[in-house]
Amino acid sequence: MIHSLMQRVFTTVLALGLFGAASHVAAQNATPAAAAPVAAPESVGGVKSANIFSVAPDANTDPKYADQTNGERSKVQPGNNAPMWRQVGAGVTGYSSLPLSQAPEAGNLIQPFVQYPGSRLTNAGEAWRQVRNQWIIPYGGALLLIVVGAIALFYWRKGTMALHGQETGRQIERFTPFERSAHWSNAIAFCALAISGVVMAFGKFFLLPIIGTSLFGWLTFVLKNVHNFAGPLFAVSLVIVLITFVRDNLPSADDIQWLLHGGGLFSGKEVPSHRFNAGEKVVFWGGVFFLGGIVVASGFVLDKLIPGLIYERSTMQMAHMIHGVATVLMMAMFIGHIYMGTIGMQGAYKAMREGYVDETWAKEHHQLWYDDIQAGKIPAQRTAPASAGVSSASAASVQA
Ligand code: HEM
Repeated sequence: MIHSLMQRVFTTVLALGLFGAASHVAAQNATPAAAAPVAAPESVGGVKSANIFSVAPDANTDPKYADQTNGERSKVQPGNNAPMWRQVGAGVTGYSSLPLSQAPEAGNLIQPFVQYPGSRLTNAGEAWRQVRNQWIIPYGGALLLIVVGAIALFYWRKGTMALHGQETGRQIERFTPFERSAHWSNAIAFCALAISGVVMAFGKFFLLPIIGTSLFGWLTFVLKNVHNFAGPLFAVSLVIVLITFVRDNLPSADDIQWLLHGGGLFSGKEVPSHRFNAGEKVVFWGGVFFLGGIVVASGFVLDKLIPGLIYERSTMQMAHMIHGVATVLMMAMFIGHIYMGTIGMQGAYKAMREGYVDETWAKEHHQLWYDDIQAGKIPAQRTAPASAGVSSASAASVQA
């Protein structure tokens, strides 16, 4: 009751105020003769201000009108600060008493003009916005959808790659507990980053219309913090993954045959490979090493974790664009990796979860690795069975 009364009083006062202001403007406009060349500042209650309606007649017919400084303009059009704002908009850096080391951009309100790849020549903030909204988001989103669609199509036509032969029951240790811990720490951090990143970048298209602004705002806020903290965890585990798996991902001669035949993915006859095939090596060097390195480095800039770096707006804009492009490519690559590591290939996920594969699996998917194990060049069991966490039955079968 009181609330609605207050509201009504407020609306009435506001309406009267607006009416008063409007009639004042109308009066000014209706009597051009009354506009003195330079009006004396109005004084209300001791406060003096320029009357911006007191324009000198024909002020803008001066040929140098467009080149006037703010001081010159104020003589003919008091209160008209267009020259100053034009300079601000063009990226001028004014004076600031703050030390440059602490506030390198304190004297600069709007960044100077640049042209980022894909943007128009405009101030850097707007240029960055254009790259993000007109390139990274639509094309990045399209790429991810295409990859998911292509994999769904592949799965629909080909299904899970099953074993051709009978399992022997004899197990080979494919991943040690350390290798699995390194892999899963990295994979879990990656999933947290991918989910939070996708919601931050694309959520407004597919989540916001469903869950509404309040929930979406809170969710994005939470996920942004998840992203900031999962990033360093991902970086550390990425380095461990790189060191752990680098040896068996070094290029070898058989990789060429594998690549030339697309791994035999479409012919159904797998090309022999060592412990990791050329496809896995491409993911390792292209996805984990190259894209992973770029993603982590640019992410560290965005998290302001690199000591000594001066974090200007342009630094963040460039780091953001690089991060956006590299993460989209990395996600596209890892969607394929996750597919092959889960529903795409029988026995792959179990190998990374429990550490062991059947001899038939090794023979069919990594024949050269299997041959080396049979020849005694690589041990079938690398960790002590008790610490490997397998049943004594499977440990015994390894010995058999
Ligand atoms: C949910 C996500 C993931 C799943 C389900 C998954 C699954 C797997 C599986 C089953 C393997 C064993 C393949 C084999 O036996 O040859 C594997 C290997 C591997 N994964 Fe993942 N993975 C995931 C995410 C990641 C991420 C985020 C990275 C790194 C950024 C990664 C890096 C590797 C590496 C380096 C290997 C060793 C093989 C190679 O070097 O290519 N994985 N993964």
